[in-house]
This record gives sequence, structure tokens and C-alpha cells, in this order.
Amino acid sequence: MPRIAVISDIHGNMAALDAVLEDLADQRPDEVLVGGDLVGRGPEGSAVVRRIVELGWPTVRGNHEDYLLAFRRHEVPAEWLRDPEWSASRWMAAELGADDVGFIDSLPFTFTSRLAPELRLVHGTPNSNREGIGPWSSERRVAEHLASIAEPLLVCAHTHRPLHRELPDGTVVNVGSVGLPFNGDRRAQYAIFEPRRAREGAPVEGWSVELRQVGYDLEATLRIYERSGFLERGGITARLLRIELEKASPVLVPFMTWAEARGVAPAPEALDRFFEDFEPGQPLAPFFDRLRNG
Ligand SMILES: [Fe+2]
Ligand SMILES: [Fe+2]
Repeated sequence: MPRIAVISDIHGNMAALDAVLEDLADQRPDEVLVGGDLVGRGPEGSAVVRRIVELGWPTVRGNHEDYLLAFRRHEVPAEWLRDPEWSASRWMAAELGADDVGFIDSLPFTFTSRLAPELRLVHGTPNSNREGIGPWSSERRVAEHLASIAEPLLVCAHTHRPLHRELPDGTVVNVGSVGLPFNGDRRAQYAIFEPRRAREGAPVEGWSVELRQVGYDLEATLRIYERSGFLERGGITARLLRIELEKASPVLVPFMTWAEARGVAPAPEALDRFFEDFEPGQPLAPFFDRLRNG
């Protein structure tokens, strides 16, 4: 039976990718697929793209591929090309080479595994690479996503939180994130799939799913934030991304939402006040509710 690895959401973190590549060399899967978000939210987008191109692994297009392409083409609101809170995105878009841009622009939205056509890969959901399936997704919603494809295994990423749900009509797995996990576990994460069949050629009866975690030199990536100039020139957003990486949980969106709700400029000077209100890793829904209700 083929073993298929799916890695995703590398987000410009080469040390994390290298650690996963080493683990894959031991695991020796028959096929490796990539779930998108090679770039964005990290300083080494170009290096990650070049490595994936070299490896030749089939890759779907994440929302961060779309996002940085939009910056390159100035197809974003005028203030995003000007305001300091978007300087990290401008830096990451400029860091990509022309070949990298050509590659990420060629990526398809979805495909099935060559060795196990019952496995469908998307970045977010079958309809969107900006919407995700996470621990908060209702059983009904997950079943709807599964019903919208022909295959019995839906593999996704985007939320940076691994998940494995068995439903009456199939299986949904989120492989988590290699370069920027949000589940509190700082290790690089990915998954390996193996179809279960009664015999060769028989229909797939189910999947064995292994969610893997690989330790890596996080300090090396943090140093690259400094050495590359990303931290210095990426403004408040680069600082928040660095904290996300250290905490393995979301900080950027909570900060931006907090700043808007409190009427505060999203600038470094606001960080101390923000961290009086927000503890990285705390449940987000009650925090956002509290902001909405003043
Ligand atoms: Fe992502
Ligand atoms: Fe994404």
C-alpha cells in the first residue's frame, strides 16, 4: 500500500522544513504532497519555494501565495502599499525572485494523489483557500465539505492546527503546519497517510493517519528574523510573527483585532498594553467576544 506524506504551511521557515525533510528521508513515503502557504508569515519564502521546486513535489496554492502575488502586482488597497502595518508583507513579497513568483502563480487550487486517487488535497476547504477546518468546525460543516468532493479522504491545512475526524462518509484530516504551528506545540508538524484495503485493487476501507511532530532549531529561524532584516524592516507585523513562532499560537490577528476595537494605532508602542489584555495561547473566541462587547 502506498504511504503518502502531506506537508503544509511552511511559511518561509527553512529550519523547520529541513527538519521535516530529514524525517521524511527516514520515513521514506512513496509520495509527498505540499498543501500550500510556502511563503508569507516568515522571512525565507524564496528559499522554501526553491527547495520545493527542486524536490518537484506536487503543491496546491495557499492563500499566502495569492496574497504575496497580489502585493507584487499592487492589486491591494493603496494603504497596504504605504502603511507601516503592511511593511512585513511588502518585504516578503519583494524577497521573492521572479522565478519564485512564476512558480507560485502556476500552482493549482486542488488535486488528488497520483498513487491514491481517493485522497484529495486542498489548502483550506474544497471551496476556499482562505477558510479553514479547525477544532472549532462543527460536525455538520465538516460533513458538508466532505460531501462536496467525490473522494473519501479530504486533506487540508491552513489553520495551523492538526485535526483528524472520522465521519460516516469519510475522513477529514488537517495536517497542521511545518513552519508556524498554532496548537501550542513548537515542533514542525505534518502527516502520513496509508489506505487500508482488503487486497491490492480492492476499494479503500479506511486510512491509517499518522500526525507527526518533528523538533527543530527554532532559535536558528528566530536569528534569521534579525539577520535578514525582516524584523527591522517588517515593522509591528514582523515582531508579532516572531512572537507567534515562539509561542506556537496566534498573536497577529488578536493584536490587530484588539487595536481596532480599542481605537489604538497598531504600532509597537501598543504591545505592552495589548499583552496586559491578551495571553498567547488563551482561547480566541471569548477574547474576540470581549472586544466586541467593549
Ligand atoms: Fe498558513
Ligand atoms: Fe493559509
